[in-house]
Amino acid sequence: LASVEFDLTKVELGQSVTIKWRGKPLFIRHRTGAEIAAAIKDDKADMRDPQTDEERHKPGKAEWLVLIGTCTHLGCVPTFGGGDYAGWFCPCHGSHYDTSGRIRKGPAPLNLVVPDYAFLSDTVVKVG
Ligand code: FES
Repeated sequence: LASVEFDLTKVELGQSVTIKWRGKPLFIRHRTGAEIAAAIKDDKADMRDPQTDEERHKPGKAEWLVLIGTCTHLGCVPTFGGGDYAGWFCPCHGSHYDTSGRIRKGPAPLNLVVPDYAFLSDTVVKVG
């Protein structure tokens, strides 16, 4: 299937779901205000793959992150809620991503990838 539509009402605040898209895991995370604030606070930090938090989500939709759920090192699936930045942590070789999915520490070279997606309404996204 080339694209997938997803109903965001299934994801409560502070929760994530993982769906399959083009054979890969896709993370859809409903971020809390604290997660968003932590990400914005670090916008000017020294980063390997510099991006602001604003560049990681759709305009006015900071509470929603849509990310391809494979570590940019060698493709393991990171888990949320671990690591030094309270975002995703990849247990394979220890890559730490922040609450924006940006790589902050460890061997991964790039941020978790944001796929092409669009909001079809306030509560439905179409990925791909
Ligand atoms: Fe994630 Fe190596 S695959 S750190």
